[in-house]
Amino acid sequence: MEIDIFTLFPEAFGWFQHQHHVAGALAHGHRLEYINYRDHTPLKAGQVDDTPFGGGAGMVLRVDVVEAALRARYGRDPLDVMKDRRVIALTPAGRLLDEAMVAELAAEPALTLLSGRYEGFDQRVIDHFTTDELSIGRYVLAGGELPAMVVCDAVMRKLPGALGHEDSAIEESFSQALEGGPEYPHYTRPAEYRGWRVPEVLLSGHHARIREWRSEQSRGRAAALEADLPPQ
Ligand code: ADE
Repeated sequence: MEIDIFTLFPEAFGWFQHQHHVAGALAHGHRLEYINYRDHTPLKAGQVDDTPFGGGAGMVLRVDVVEAALRARYGRDPLDVMKDRRVIALTPAGRLLDEAMVAELAAEPALTLLSGRYEGFDQRVIDHFTTDELSIGRYVLAGGELPAMVVCDAVMRKLPGALGHEDSAIEESFSQALEGGPEYPHYTRPAEYRGWRVPEVLLSGHHARIREWRSEQSRGRAAALEADLPPQ
Protein backbone atom coordinates (compact mmCIF):
# COMPACT_ATOMS: atom_id res chain seq x y z
CA MET A 1 0.00 0.00 0.00
CA GLU A 2 1.03 3.53 -0.76
CA ILE A 3 -0.02 6.26 1.70
CA ASP A 4 0.55 9.96 1.03
CA ILE A 5 0.05 12.37 3.91
CA PHE A 6 -0.42 16.05 3.12
CA THR A 7 0.55 18.18 6.10
CA LEU A 8 2.17 21.43 7.22
CA PHE A 9 4.20 19.46 9.78
CA PRO A 10 5.90 16.42 8.20
CA GLU A 11 8.41 16.41 11.05
CA ALA A 12 5.58 15.44 13.42
CA PHE A 13 5.71 11.92 11.93
CA GLY A 14 9.37 11.22 12.79
CA TRP A 15 8.60 9.13 15.87
CA PHE A 16 5.60 7.47 14.30
CA GLN A 17 7.35 5.85 11.37
CA HIS A 18 9.83 4.14 13.64
CA GLN A 19 7.06 2.24 15.44
CA HIS A 20 7.66 -1.48 15.12
CA HIS A 21 4.65 -2.33 12.97
CA VAL A 22 5.04 0.75 10.77
CA ALA A 23 8.74 0.08 10.18
CA GLY A 24 7.83 -3.58 9.50
CA ALA A 25 5.26 -2.61 6.88
CA LEU A 26 7.70 -0.18 5.25
CA ALA A 27 10.41 -2.87 5.14
CA HIS A 28 7.85 -5.07 3.35
CA GLY A 29 7.55 -2.53 0.53
CA HIS A 30 4.57 -0.48 1.71
CA ARG A 31 5.15 3.26 1.40
CA LEU A 32 4.43 6.27 3.59
CA GLU A 33 5.29 9.70 2.18
CA TYR A 34 4.74 13.28 3.28
CA ILE A 35 3.87 16.29 1.17
CA ASN A 36 4.14 19.71 2.77
CA TYR A 37 1.46 22.11 1.48
CA ARG A 38 3.89 24.97 2.07
CA ASP A 39 6.40 23.56 -0.42
CA HIS A 40 3.86 23.94 -3.23
CA THR A 41 1.89 27.04 -2.36
CA PRO A 42 1.33 29.46 -5.25
CA LEU A 43 1.16 32.34 -2.71
CA LYS A 44 3.96 34.59 -1.55
CA ALA A 45 6.01 34.02 1.59
CA GLY A 46 4.81 30.45 2.04
CA GLN A 47 1.23 31.51 2.79
CA VAL A 48 -1.19 28.56 3.03
CA ASP A 49 -4.19 29.86 4.97
CA ASP A 50 -6.43 32.89 5.14
CA THR A 51 -9.08 34.59 7.28
CA PRO A 52 -12.62 33.21 6.99
CA PHE A 53 -15.17 35.04 4.83
CA GLY A 54 -17.97 36.29 7.05
CA GLY A 55 -15.55 36.81 9.94
CA GLY A 56 -14.73 34.67 12.94
CA ALA A 57 -11.70 33.38 14.70
CA GLY A 58 -8.90 31.33 13.22
CA MET A 59 -7.47 30.70 9.80
CA VAL A 60 -8.68 28.44 7.01
CA LEU A 61 -6.49 26.28 4.74
CA ARG A 62 -6.98 27.62 1.20
CA VAL A 63 -8.46 25.55 -1.62
CA ASP A 64 -5.91 26.82 -4.19
CA VAL A 65 -3.07 25.77 -1.88
CA VAL A 66 -4.47 22.26 -1.44
CA GLU A 67 -5.00 21.97 -5.21
CA ALA A 68 -1.40 23.06 -5.91
CA ALA A 69 -0.04 20.42 -3.51
CA LEU A 70 -2.22 17.66 -5.02
CA ARG A 71 -1.21 18.69 -8.56
CA ALA A 72 2.48 18.77 -7.60
CA ARG A 73 2.22 15.26 -6.19
CA TYR A 74 0.08 13.59 -8.85
CA GLY A 75 0.74 15.74 -11.94
CA ARG A 76 -2.94 16.09 -12.82
CA ASP A 77 -6.19 17.68 -11.83
CA PRO A 78 -7.26 16.58 -8.31
CA LEU A 79 -10.71 15.84 -9.79
CA ASP A 80 -9.02 13.01 -11.73
CA VAL A 81 -6.89 11.82 -8.80
CA MET A 82 -10.08 10.98 -6.91
CA LYS A 83 -11.09 8.52 -9.62
CA ASP A 84 -8.33 6.09 -8.76
CA ARG A 85 -7.47 6.61 -5.11
CA ARG A 86 -9.32 7.56 -1.96
CA VAL A 87 -8.53 11.11 -0.94
CA ILE A 88 -9.50 11.55 2.70
CA ALA A 89 -9.90 14.84 4.57
CA LEU A 90 -9.36 14.50 8.33
CA THR A 91 -11.97 16.57 10.14
CA PRO A 92 -13.75 16.35 13.51
CA ALA A 93 -17.15 16.15 11.75
CA GLY A 94 -16.30 13.33 9.31
CA ARG A 95 -17.40 9.68 9.32
CA LEU A 96 -16.24 8.11 12.57
CA LEU A 97 -13.32 5.72 12.19
CA ASP A 98 -14.08 2.20 13.38
CA GLU A 99 -12.65 -1.26 12.77
CA ALA A 100 -14.85 -1.84 9.68
CA MET A 101 -13.59 1.39 8.12
CA VAL A 102 -9.99 0.44 8.99
CA ALA A 103 -10.42 -2.92 7.22
CA GLU A 104 -11.96 -1.17 4.22
CA LEU A 105 -9.01 1.24 4.01
CA ALA A 106 -6.43 -1.52 4.50
CA ALA A 107 -7.78 -3.21 1.35
CA GLU A 108 -7.04 -0.12 -0.80
CA PRO A 109 -3.87 -0.04 -2.91
CA ALA A 110 -3.33 3.67 -2.20
CA LEU A 111 -4.59 6.34 0.19
CA THR A 112 -4.20 10.09 0.40
CA LEU A 113 -4.73 11.72 3.79
CA LEU A 114 -5.20 15.48 4.04
CA SER A 115 -4.41 17.01 7.43
CA GLY A 116 -5.76 20.41 8.22
CA ARG A 117 -4.62 22.96 10.79
CA TYR A 118 -6.13 26.10 12.25
CA GLU A 119 -9.92 26.20 11.71
CA GLY A 120 -9.72 23.48 9.06
CA PHE A 121 -10.19 23.38 5.29
CA ASP A 122 -12.03 25.70 2.95
CA GLN A 123 -15.24 23.67 2.45
CA ARG A 124 -14.54 23.42 -1.29
CA VAL A 125 -11.57 21.14 -0.54
CA ILE A 126 -13.94 18.69 1.13
CA ASP A 127 -16.73 19.12 -1.42
CA HIS A 128 -14.62 18.76 -4.56
CA PHE A 129 -11.21 17.24 -3.90
CA THR A 130 -11.93 14.41 -1.48
CA THR A 131 -13.75 11.08 -1.57
CA ASP A 132 -14.14 10.80 2.22
CA GLU A 133 -14.21 12.93 5.32
CA LEU A 134 -12.95 11.01 8.33
CA SER A 135 -12.97 11.75 12.06
CA ILE A 136 -11.19 9.90 14.86
CA GLY A 137 -13.73 11.13 17.42
CA ARG A 138 -16.08 13.92 18.26
CA TYR A 139 -13.56 16.34 19.74
CA VAL A 140 -11.49 19.03 18.06
CA LEU A 141 -7.73 18.60 17.81
CA ALA A 142 -5.36 21.38 16.79
CA GLY A 143 -4.60 19.63 13.54
CA GLY A 144 -4.93 16.49 11.44
CA GLU A 145 -1.47 15.08 12.17
CA LEU A 146 -2.49 12.95 15.15
CA PRO A 147 -5.62 11.73 13.32
CA ALA A 148 -3.44 10.83 10.28
CA MET A 149 -1.17 8.80 12.58
CA VAL A 150 -4.16 7.09 14.17
CA VAL A 151 -5.51 6.10 10.75
CA CYS A 152 -2.09 4.89 9.55
CA ASP A 153 -1.41 3.01 12.80
CA ALA A 154 -4.71 1.12 12.58
CA VAL A 155 -4.47 0.49 8.83
CA MET A 156 -0.80 -0.47 8.69
CA ARG A 157 -1.03 -3.11 11.40
CA LYS A 158 -3.41 -4.96 9.08
CA LEU A 159 -0.87 -5.06 6.24
CA PRO A 160 1.23 -8.15 5.54
CA GLY A 161 4.60 -7.85 7.23
CA ALA A 162 3.54 -5.31 9.84
CA LEU A 163 3.10 -7.67 12.80
CA GLY A 164 5.67 -10.33 13.55
CA HIS A 165 2.99 -12.89 14.30
CA GLU A 166 0.51 -12.99 11.39
CA ASP A 167 -2.31 -14.28 13.61
CA SER A 168 -2.23 -11.38 16.03
CA ALA A 169 -4.37 -9.14 13.80
CA ILE A 170 -6.92 -11.88 13.11
CA GLU A 171 -8.37 -12.64 16.53
CA GLU A 172 -8.39 -9.22 18.11
CA SER A 173 -11.02 -6.75 19.20
CA PHE A 174 -13.77 -6.05 16.66
CA SER A 175 -12.42 -8.60 14.17
CA GLN A 176 -14.65 -10.99 12.20
CA ALA A 177 -13.15 -13.90 14.13
CA LEU A 178 -14.80 -12.43 17.23
CA GLU A 179 -18.05 -11.60 15.41
CA GLY A 180 -17.18 -7.90 15.58
CA GLY A 181 -17.01 -7.96 19.38
CA PRO A 182 -14.25 -6.72 21.70
CA GLU A 183 -11.43 -9.07 22.57
CA TYR A 184 -11.52 -11.48 25.52
CA PRO A 185 -9.29 -10.71 28.53
CA HIS A 186 -5.63 -11.82 28.48
CA TYR A 187 -3.50 -13.06 31.36
CA THR A 188 0.13 -14.01 31.74
CA ARG A 189 2.45 -15.14 34.54
CA PRO A 190 2.29 -15.11 37.52
CA ALA A 191 -0.84 -17.29 37.75
CA GLU A 192 -1.58 -15.71 41.12
CA TYR A 193 -0.70 -12.19 42.19
CA ARG A 194 -1.77 -10.60 45.48
CA GLY A 195 -4.45 -13.31 45.66
CA TRP A 196 -5.84 -12.50 42.19
CA ARG A 197 -5.96 -15.78 40.33
CA VAL A 198 -6.03 -16.25 36.59
CA PRO A 199 -9.27 -18.03 35.53
CA GLU A 200 -8.69 -21.78 36.01
CA VAL A 201 -9.87 -22.67 32.51
CA LEU A 202 -6.84 -20.87 31.01
CA LEU A 203 -4.49 -23.08 33.04
CA SER A 204 -6.36 -26.27 32.12
CA GLY A 205 -4.69 -26.89 28.76
CA HIS A 206 -8.17 -27.78 27.45
CA HIS A 207 -8.23 -25.93 24.13
CA ALA A 208 -11.90 -26.39 23.26
CA ARG A 209 -12.98 -25.12 26.69
CA ILE A 210 -10.57 -22.20 26.44
CA ARG A 211 -12.01 -21.25 23.04
CA GLU A 212 -15.54 -21.44 24.41
CA TRP A 213 -14.62 -19.34 27.48
CA ARG A 214 -12.97 -16.69 25.31
CA SER A 215 -15.92 -16.35 22.98
CA GLU A 216 -18.30 -16.11 25.97
CA GLN A 217 -16.11 -13.33 27.40
CA SER A 218 -16.05 -11.50 24.08
CA ARG A 219 -19.86 -11.77 23.77
CA GLY A 220 -20.28 -10.53 27.35
CA ARG A 221 -18.09 -7.53 26.64
CA ALA A 222 -19.99 -6.82 23.41
CA ALA A 223 -23.29 -6.85 25.35
CA ALA A 224 -21.79 -4.50 27.97
CA LEU A 225 -20.59 -2.12 25.24
CA GLU A 226 -24.02 -2.24 23.62
CA ALA A 227 -25.64 -1.34 26.93
CA ASP A 228 -22.91 1.28 27.56
CA LEU A 229 -21.85 -0.42 30.81
CA PRO A 230 -18.30 -0.24 32.18
CA PRO A 231 -16.14 -3.38 31.59
CA GLN A 232 -16.56 -6.07 34.26
N1 ADE B 1 -8.86 17.38 12.95
C1 ADE B 1 -9.10 18.01 14.11
N2 ADE B 1 -9.79 17.25 14.96
C2 ADE B 1 -9.99 16.04 14.32
C3 ADE B 1 -10.63 14.83 14.67
N3 ADE B 1 -11.22 14.66 15.84
N4 ADE B 1 -10.63 13.82 13.76
C4 ADE B 1 -10.04 13.99 12.56
N5 ADE B 1 -9.43 15.12 12.17
C5 ADE B 1 -9.40 16.15 13.04
